[in-house]
Amino acid sequence: MTDIAEKHSNRWIERHNDLLTQVKQEFRSQFGQAPSILAAAPGRVNLIGEHIDYNDGFVLPMAIERYVVIAAAPLTDSSTANPPTAKAYSIDLQDLTEFSIGSRSKPTVDTWGRYVEGVVAGFLDRGVNVPSFNSVIASNVPTGSGLSSSAALEIATATMLESITGHWLPPAEKALLCQQAEHQFAGVPCGIMDQFSSVFGKLNQLMLLDCVSQSIEPVAFKADEVSILIINSNVKHELSEGEYAQRRGQCEQALRQINKTSWREVMLDDLESAKGSLTSTQYGCAQHVITEIERTQQAAEAFKECNWSRVGELMHKSHTSLQKDYKVSCDELDILVELAGELGTSGGVYGSRMTGGGFGGCTVTLVKTAQIDAIKKFIHHHYQARTGIQATSFASRPAQGAHLIQG
Ligand code: GLA
Repeated sequence: MTDIAEKHSNRWIERHNDLLTQVKQEFRSQFGQAPSILAAAPGRVNLIGEHIDYNDGFVLPMAIERYVVIAAAPLTDSSTANPPTAKAYSIDLQDLTEFSIGSRSKPTVDTWGRYVEGVVAGFLDRGVNVPSFNSVIASNVPTGSGLSSSAALEIATATMLESITGHWLPPAEKALLCQQAEHQFAGVPCGIMDQFSSVFGKLNQLMLLDCVSQSIEPVAFKADEVSILIINSNVKHELSEGEYAQRRGQCEQALRQINKTSWREVMLDDLESAKGSLTSTQYGCAQHVITEIERTQQAAEAFKECNWSRVGELMHKSHTSLQKDYKVSCDELDILVELAGELGTSGGVYGSRMTGGGFGGCTVTLVKTAQIDAIKKFIHHHYQARTGIQATSFASRPAQGAHLIQG
């Protein structure tokens, strides 16, 4: 490890010490020994580029300082069950899941354990021999909040399995393996953003991910005077409920009607020419996709220039498009964005929008760091008054992607 890497790693351990202590202790009490492996993977927040990772778009996410940590140990030959068995205990859910390790394309467990099972299946598909293992999972990524707690669990699992099997996957392949687990084992036809963010996250960097070429352009985000504030509406969303897959279907149909093979090639003029052959839902979806692809590239430029007002303006437009055209927002998210808008630049807010799949979950807000406490207070207070719900919030800098932890 280089000096810098070691310094980062020590700082990471210091910051996440509670999670580490908790997971190590629980491993001991579940399995009566110390874990031999500790793997961590972060959630993510998307700054802009929503619902276009599966529509040939660009997205601009960052990994957040919230992690899933897995403590694990492979079982030695003498104690290995035949067929080998995986055991995973979730501290949050106080639930132990167990499944036999074998090739399959569908889950045999119907709980959160599907995510672990799906990732194990991905390794087996690649001809990797996975031995019996015990594991314990701790997390401080809020679940069902649009911050990719499931991708964090998948990527942490894959990182742990890499260490157990000694089979290190190229990072993009690791992300794609986990995306496939989400498709097949959790039933969510998601794009690549969440898993790529959790693998490729870097300190002080946003990622401009081109979802066609799957290449990442780093966008530095170091300015201390601005912060990324994540506000949880505490309205839970559940992507597998079907709305996500429906939107995806509408977009595919719209693209066919417009007679193109990629959204990259579609201009607003093409949409207007095809308007007569589209349903109003398809038209709205297409309008969002085309304009959001443009906005995301513009926002990446504005971030590079530290033009915060411009970023904020694009974030607001993105929200309106998701609310009115793509229709994946909800009243609570709209209220959070509206309240941020009421504060405006003089109140320390550059821009705000829903983030992630939608229908609940979080907003992401670009704020002046000096005013962050007052902003939180204002939004929490008025949100509670208008909805009866207590919001929760935290700020995050762009964080380090998945890694193993020594000790
Ligand atoms: C979910 C999916 C992602 C992405 C977002 C919306 O988080 O998992 O692939 O489509 O929704 O941008």
